Amino acid sequence: MPVSQSCLVCQNIDCKSRGSEQLAAELQQKIAAKGLTDVDVKPYMCFGACQEGPNVVIYPEKNWYAHVKSEDLDDIVAHLAGAPHVQRLDTIDSSLKELIYQLLDTGVF
Ligand code: FES
Repeated sequence: MPVSQSCLVCQNIDCKSRGSEQLAAELQQKIAAKGLTDVDVKPYMCFGACQEGPNVVIYPEKNWYAHVKSEDLDDIVAHLAGAPHVQRLDTIDSSLKELIYQLLDTGVF
């Protein structure tokens, strides 16, 4: 991947109650195991899609994965390594995506 990417994993109450803390840790491990040194995992405060969580946004690439489960992480890591994005997890309404991407573009992390 040409630009380094961040996996922003929501750590607010709803996503956390669905296991986002554990997901972030597993994702970190899998990224390291794959040798992807240009990808990091960061917590995020809330993407405003709390009922769709756990939510993971890959930025600056701009892919949003919703309802992420542990068993989805291998596909997400494969995507980070260059495979096509994971279509089945791309379920968020495009207007909300645009809003959050614009917010991220302002640098408010
Ligand atoms: S709690 Fe995760 S999107 Fe709001």
